[in-house]
Parts: sequence; structure tokens; C-alpha cells
Amino acid sequence: MQKRSWNSMSTIPITLSFLLFIFYFQKVFSAPSRHLCRPEQRDALLEFKNKFEIGNPSSFCITSHPKTESWVNNSDCCYWDGITCDAKSRELVSLDLSCSCLHGRIHSNNKLFNVQNLRFLTTLDLSCNDLSGWIPSSFGNLSSLTYLSLARNNFAGEIPSSLGSLLHLTSLDLSFNIFIGEIPFSLGNLSHLTSLDLSNNSFVGGIPISLGTLSHLTSLNLYDNNFVGEIPRSLGNLSHLTDLDLSCNNFVGKIPSSLGSLSHLAFLYLYYNSFVGEIPSSLGDLSHITSLSLSFNYFVGEIPSSLGNLSHLRDLSLAHNNFVGEIPPSFGSLSNLALLDVKSNKLSGSFPLTLLNLTKLSILSLSNNQFAGMLPSFVTIPLLDTLSLENNQHNDTREFGNIFSSPKLVELDLCNNNFIGPVPISIFKSVNLVTLDLGDNHLSGELPEIFFNGSNLRSLNVGHNQLVGKLPRSLASCSSLEVLNVEHNRINDTFPFWLESLQKLQVLVLHSNEFHGSLQYNPKVASWFPQLRIIDISYNSFNGTLPSDFFIYWRAISSEENRSELKYIGEQSYYKDSLVLMNKGVEMKYTRILSLLTAIDISGNRLQGPIPKSIGLVKNLIVLNLSRNGFIGNIPSSLTNLKELESLDLSHNKLSGKIPPALGALTSLSKVIFSHNQLVGPIPHGTQFQTQDASSFEGNLGLCGRPLSISCGDIHTEQTQEPESDEEEGVFSWTAASIAFAPGVIIGLIIGHIMVTKKPQWFIKISGVTRFYINATRG
Ligand SMILES: *[C@@H]1O[C@H](CO)[C@@H](O)[C@H](O)[C@H]1NC(C)=O
Ligand SMILES: *[C@@H]1O[C@H](CO)[C@@H](O)[C@H](O)[C@H]1NC(C)=O
Ligand SMILES: *[C@@H]1O[C@H](CO)[C@@H](O)[C@H](O)[C@H]1NC(C)=O
Ligand SMILES: *[C@@H]1O[C@H](CO)[C@@H](O)[C@H](O)[C@H]1NC(C)=O
Ligand SMILES: *[C@@H]1O[C@H](CO)[C@@H](O)[C@H](O)[C@H]1NC(C)=O
Ligand SMILES: *[C@@H]1O[C@H](CO)[C@@H](O)[C@H](O)[C@H]1NC(C)=O
Ligand SMILES: *[C@@H]1O[C@H](CO)[C@@H](O)[C@H](O)[C@H]1NC(C)=O
Ligand SMILES: *[C@@H]1O[C@H](CO)[C@@H](O)[C@H](O)[C@H]1NC(C)=O
Ligand SMILES: *[C@@H]1O[C@H](CO)[C@@H](O)[C@H](O)[C@H]1NC(C)=O
Ligand SMILES: *[C@@H]1O[C@H](CO)[C@@H](O)[C@H](O)[C@H]1NC(C)=O
Ligand SMILES: *[C@@H]1O[C@H](CO)[C@@H](O)[C@H](O)[C@H]1NC(C)=O
Ligand SMILES: *[C@@H]1O[C@H](CO)[C@@H](O)[C@H](O)[C@H]1NC(C)=O
Repeated sequence: MQKRSWNSMSTIPITLSFLLFIFYFQKVFSAPSRHLCRPEQRDALLEFKNKFEIGNPSSFCITSHPKTESWVNNSDCCYWDGITCDAKSRELVSLDLSCSCLHGRIHSNNKLFNVQNLRFLTTLDLSCNDLSGWIPSSFGNLSSLTYLSLARNNFAGEIPSSLGSLLHLTSLDLSFNIFIGEIPFSLGNLSHLTSLDLSNNSFVGGIPISLGTLSHLTSLNLYDNNFVGEIPRSLGNLSHLTDLDLSCNNFVGKIPSSLGSLSHLAFLYLYYNSFVGEIPSSLGDLSHITSLSLSFNYFVGEIPSSLGNLSHLRDLSLAHNNFVGEIPPSFGSLSNLALLDVKSNKLSGSFPLTLLNLTKLSILSLSNNQFAGMLPSFVTIPLLDTLSLENNQHNDTREFGNIFSSPKLVELDLCNNNFIGPVPISIFKSVNLVTLDLGDNHLSGELPEIFFNGSNLRSLNVGHNQLVGKLPRSLASCSSLEVLNVEHNRINDTFPFWLESLQKLQVLVLHSNEFHGSLQYNPKVASWFPQLRIIDISYNSFNGTLPSDFFIYWRAISSEENRSELKYIGEQSYYKDSLVLMNKGVEMKYTRILSLLTAIDISGNRLQGPIPKSIGLVKNLIVLNLSRNGFIGNIPSSLTNLKELESLDLSHNKLSGKIPPALGALTSLSKVIFSHNQLVGPIPHGTQFQTQDASSFEGNLGLCGRPLSISCGDIHTEQTQEPESDEEEGVFSWTAASIAFAPGVIIGLIIGHIMVTKKPQWFIKISGVTRFYINATRG
């Protein structure tokens, strides 16, 4: 027994080693004699390998592997990683170097691309590397190619028209490079092409009519380029097309009704172009379509009722156009619809009851239209997760709590309607709510204690209503809360120190209410409002003095900041958190909140006493507004620590003494307002002060110097006691000049953002979500 088992155990390793030996012997000694790999191809491949460095993995790859590293000159190149030879002829037939960390420039004289070497190549895949250079026009000689992908590199230049000679090509992918120029007419020769992807480049010109002859095409992706002109009617001939994406270009004109013949089309994306006119009702013939986006164009007229025939449609976006009329009743037949977005049009009528038939609907946005009247119960839409009715004219004097009967509801935006009466108590049933916006309505009474189950709530806005009473203490249960905005109500309460433990609260806006009492406090928890970065308690009745350690606890505003990436609060939400802030003396609406923005606004209260020196600790502060209080004493020189400060308003107080000259060194400042105080002495040197309006300093006892017209002659002697000041001025103006656009950079970013709301940035984001959604449902 014992012996037998010993035997059987030992024979296995012995046999294995023997086999391995045979295998090794064959590999080493017999392989070269079989001459599997053509020497000229081997040498060309080795030369190719040596021309490129191994760089960083491409961010487009899930896994990258430097395939050429395995290419060594003592083995058969037909077995090298990424290479396939024909079994009989031993010719190279496939070269797949995707995700191989290749870095370098392709030159047209590269021996590998010599037609002799690649005569029989059918597949050439260099995608997802860091390759640059132009496409060698000799590629047109690789006449056996059926698959060519250079996608996701840094290739530039024009597509050589010689590619039109690759008559066997079925797939051409040049996406995500920096190609320029027009699509060569010759691509119309590629009659076997099934897939053409030129997306995310800088191509210009129109779609050549010749593409309409590529009758095998199933996928045509031209998105994210600078294409112009109209869609050629001939595209309607591409009867096998399943995927057509022309989004994010400058296409104009009407949609040709011939597109209605694309009976296999599943995805049609025309968003973010300049299309005009009415939608042809023939789109109702796209009987296989699952995803249709026409957003961000200039379409007019009514939504064709024929779209109600598209029974496979899961995703329909018509947002940001000029559609008028009602949602067609036929939409009640879109039984697979999961996403309907018609925001920012001129649609009207009462809430389209036909949508209540859409049992699979999960995202519905009707915002920025003229829908009016009462809301129905949404109980028949069990999957409804996001409902945005913002900026319409819905009214309801009843408890409009019907809405909240859907337990799945995650995002609800009823902002800027005409809702009247109390805040519905039934909200507490929506335990999954993440964002709730009831702002800009006529809601009255107290905000009820409905937040005990609110642990998912991330953002709550009830601003601009007529709410009274105290803040509901149940808000302290909202452990996920990041944004709380109750501005412009008549809430009569003391400062909500009891929210101090909310670990995620970033934005607290109590602006314009009847909050009152002292801001003195004894933190009960070690980390007091640990994430708070925007606090606006302006225009209330807070009184008393600020404790000297008032600014010590603002951890998020005082710790070192990582400014390497731009992020917005609530990026993961469909809902966009917005904010109005007094900035540079004017009210500014931020349509999204950059997470780098920090602000303390306690203006318009009855605070007295000195400004605490601890203000110097909030090093990341960008907006500081202490105006319209009763602050006395000197301006603390610790303010000079706030190197990021862009807007500083100390006006309408009783501050006295001189403005600390070192404030002139704050090159980030773009607006300072010191008017109506009791300040004296010279206005600090430095571009940021000298370029302000004189009105920023008016109404003081004895300020002098630029930009005021009062010269500092009288006190000049006093100033010469500070010998460093001349030198200082030189340094300051040099710094200011060298970073000419630095002042107001964070504020500027946001302003820029508002001005370009029609630009891709946030839109791409939404379409990205849509894409993600589509990909998810596709697979
Ligand atoms: C590869 O090795 C062969 C002989 O083993 C030699 O003739 C050839 O030049 C080598 N190629 C390169 C590129 O080093
Ligand atoms: C390869 O292509 C170039 C440029 O398109 C052309 O001039 C040349 O004649 C071609 N060579 C062969 C062998 O086909
Ligand atoms: C390709 O197309 C061009 C122009 O469209 C034409 O002149 C040329 O003859 C075609 N070449 C081949 C090989 O079909
Ligand atoms: C194109 O792709 C690059 C790289 O992924 C990306 O940074 C860029 O935003 C894209 N272009 C547009 C207009 O989306
Ligand atoms: C292609 O489309 C055009 C314009 O719509 C049409 O005139 C032509 O007959 C079509 N060609 C084929 C082969 O279907
Ligand atoms: C498509 O919709 C229109 C208008 O709603 C209707 O008249 C037509 O019969 C529908 N066609 C099909 C094939 O269902
Ligand atoms: C909802 O669908 C039913 C049949 O499924 C239909 O009878 C009814 O008219 C539809 N309602 C609306 C408002 O479209
Ligand atoms: C609500 O709106 C409808 C339609 O605009 C209107 O007829 C009705 O009078 C309004 N009700 C209230 C209470 O304002
Ligand atoms: C919290 O939700 C549960 C059901 O999920 C409910 O029974 C309970 O009454 C709610 N609590 C409060 C205080 O609303
Ligand atoms: C706030 O409420 C108190 C009573 O709780 C009342 O005395 C006071 O007048 C109210 N303040 C304002 C501004 O209405
Ligand atoms: C602050 O205002 C309250 C009334 O809201 C008053 O009772 C209190 O005396 C005031 N405190 C100071 C320091 O003025
Ligand atoms: C800042 O963030 C970037 C990206 O998240 C990270 O790579 C970098 O290391 C961070 N820098 C610091 C100083 O934390």
C-alpha cells in the first residue's frame, strides 16, 4: 500500500520532466531549422520594436502589456506576442499591438510598412498606444487589409486618399486622434466597409456623398469633430446601418427624411449640432431604434406623433431645442422607454398623463418648459428614479404628495414652479431621496420634521419660499447631506450648531431669513463641520461678537488643497447643484458648484467687535464678505495669509486704522471693497488695489492714494519710515504682471462655465451618462 502510492506519486514528476525535456529540445533545436518566420519580416519587426520606447499604459486600456518586449531574435517571430502568421505560407497576416505601451513616432520609411513585408496582412491594430506621426500613404498598398485601427493614439495629419485602395477593408477605426482635413472622397471605394469610426478628431468638411454607396456599413461614427454641411440624403441608402453618430459637430440643415429608411438603425445620435427645421415624421419608421438623441440643436415645430411607433425605444432625448405643443399622446405606447428628456424647449399643456403608461420609465425630465396645472400620482411608474420638473408652471394647492408615492425616487426637482401651501409630509416615504429641490415656489408653513429617514439625502434646497418657524431638527439625521439651502424664507431660528456633526456638509446657505442670536459656540464634537467650505449666513439678525477662535475650526477651508483636478459638488447626480453668491459686489448665479470654491459670507447682520485674527487660518478662502455689520478695530494683518482670496468685502462697518500694506501682495485678489468705514492712510500698493474703482474706498475718514484722487502728500513722511515699500512695490507689480490672469481665476472659471452652458463640458457629461446607460443596456 505504502509502496504503491510512493510509486505512483513519483512517476508523474518523472514523466513530466521527460516530456518537458522533449518539448524544450524541440523548441530549441528544431525550431530554427524549420524557418517558420521570414527573415526579412523578422528583421523588420525587430527594427520596428527598436524604433519605439515602452511608455506609460494608455488610459483607454483595462490592461496594457508591452508586447514587443517579448520579441527577441532567437525565436520564431510567428510566435511573438501580437503576431500571427499564415499556417501555410508563414506570411504575417495579423499584427495586433493594441494596448502595448508603445511610445514614438511612425515614419513613412519604417521598413515594416514596406509593402513586401505586409502584402498578406489582413489585420493591423495599433490602437491605444502613444503613437504619433502621419499615416504613411504607402498604407494604401497593404491591399489585403480587412481591419485597420489606429484609434486612441496621437496620430495627426490628413487621411491619405490612398486608403481608398484598401478594397477589402471591412473596418476602419481612426477615432480619438488629432487628425485634420476632410474625409477623402476615395473612401467611397471601400465597398466592403462595415464599420467606419472617425470620432473625436479635428476633421472638417462635409460627409462625402460617396459614403452613401458603402452599402454594407453597419456603424458610422463621426462624433466630436468639426464637420459641417448637411447630412447627404444618400445616407438613407445605408440600409444595414445600426449605429449612426454625428453628434458634437457643426452640421446644419434639416434631417433628410431618407433617414427613415434605415430600418435596422438602433442608435441615432445627432445631438449638439446646428440642425434646424422640423423632425421628419419618417423617423417614426425606425422600427428597431433603441436610442435617439436630437438634443442641443435648433429643431422647431411639434414633436411628431409618429415617434410613438418606436416601440423599442429606451432612450429619447429632445432637450435644448425649440419644440412647441404638447407631448404626443402616442408616447404612451413607448413601452420600453426608460429615459425621456425634453428639457429646455417650449412645450406646454398639462402634465402629459400618457407618460403614466410608461412602466419602465426611470428618468424623466420636463424641466424648462411651460407645463402647467396639477401633478398626477406617479404610482403607475414604479421604476421612476429621477423626476425633473424644474422651471414650469405646475401648481397645486393640495398636498402634492402624490409624487412621493414612488419609493424608488432618488432625485426630485420641482424648483421654480407655482406650488402653493405646506411642504408635503409624505416626502418622508421617499427614503431613497438623494436630491430634493423645492426652491422658488410659494410653499408656506414650517418645514416639517420629515428627515428622520433622510440618511441618503445629499442635497436639499427649499430656498425662495415663504417658510416660517424653525429648521426641523430631523435634518441632523441626514448624514449624507452635502448641500443645505434655505435662503430667502422667514425661518426664525438660532444658528444650527446642532448640524455640526454632519460629516459631509459642504455648503450651508441661510441667507435672507430671520436667523438671530449669537455665533458663540462650544463645539461638542472634535471635528466641527469638517467639510464645510461655503457658508452664507448673510442678511439675518445674528448679533454679538465673533469669538476669537471663530475661524479655527473650518478644516476644509484651512487645510492644504489639491487643485490638480476640477470637480463639481454632486457630479454623480443628474441634478446640478447651483448657488447664488455675492461676489465682487454683484449677485452671481453659479449653475454648478466647483468643489474648489470656498466662501464665507456673514454680511448684513448685526455683528460687532473686532474681526478675529483667526481669519488668517482659512488659507483656502476665495470669497470673504463681512460687509454691513458693526465690526470695529483694525483690519487684521493676518488677512495677508489668505493667498487664494479673490473677493474681499469689508464695506459698511466701523473699521479703523490703516489698511495693512502687505495686503497689496495678495495677487489673487480681483475685487476689494473697503468703502464706508473709518479707515485712514495710504491704500496699499500693488496692482490688485490700484486697479479697483475709487468707489471701493469711498466713505472713509482719511484714505489716500490711487485709485482715490486724494494724494498722500501729507502723510508721505510717515510712509518713508517703512523703507521696504518701494522695493515691495516693484516685487508686487512684477508678480502681478507675470501671472496676469491669476486674479479671480476660480471665480473666472465659474463665470466662464456659465457663459458656455451650450458647450460640451457638462453636456458631454450628461450624454456620457446616457452613453453609459446605453452601453449597459446594450450588453
Ligand atoms: C537576427 O539574427 C540573425 C541570425 O541569427 C541575423 O542574421 C540577423 O541580422 C538578426 N537580426 C537582427 C535585427 O538583429
Ligand atoms: C505604394 O504606395 C506608394 C504611394 O501610394 C506608391 O507610390 C507605390 O507605387 C506603391 N508601391 C507598391 C509596391 O505598390
Ligand atoms: C477610388 O476612388 C477614386 C475617387 O473616388 C477613383 O478615382 C479611383 O479610381 C478609385 N480607386 C479604386 C481602386 O477603385
Ligand atoms: C477627445 O478625447 C480626448 C481624450 O480622451 C478628450 O480629452 C477630449 O475631451 C475629447 N474631445 C472632446 C471634444 O470631447
Ligand atoms: C442613394 O440615394 C440617392 C439619394 O437619396 C438616390 O438618388 C439613389 O438612387 C440611391 N442609390 C441607391 C443605389 O440606392
Ligand atoms: C405610426 O404613427 C402614425 C402616427 O402616430 C400612425 O398614423 C401610423 O399608423 C403608425 N405606423 C405604424 C406602422 O404603426
Ligand atoms: C395607456 O395604455 C392603455 C392600454 O395599455 C390605453 O388604453 C390607454 O389609453 C393609455 N393611456 C394613455 C394616457 O395613453
Ligand atoms: C393652476 O393652473 C391652472 C392651469 O394653468 C389654472 O387653471 C388654475 O387656476 C391654477 N390653480 C391655481 C390654484 O392657481
Ligand atoms: C422611516 O421609514 C419607515 C419605513 O421605511 C417608516 O416606517 C417610518 O415611519 C419612517 N420614520 C419616520 C420618522 O418617518
Ligand atoms: C422670532 O420668533 C420669536 C418667538 O419665538 C419672536 O419673538 C420674534 O419676534 C421672531 N422674530 C422675527 C424677526 O419675527
Ligand atoms: C442679540 O439679540 C437678541 C435678540 O434676538 C437679544 O436678546 C440679545 O441681547 C442680543 N445680544 C447682543 C449681544 O446684542
Ligand atoms: C492631487 O490629486 C491628484 C489626482 O487625484 C494626485 O495624482 C496627486 O498626487 C494629488 N497631489 C497631492 C499633493 O495630494
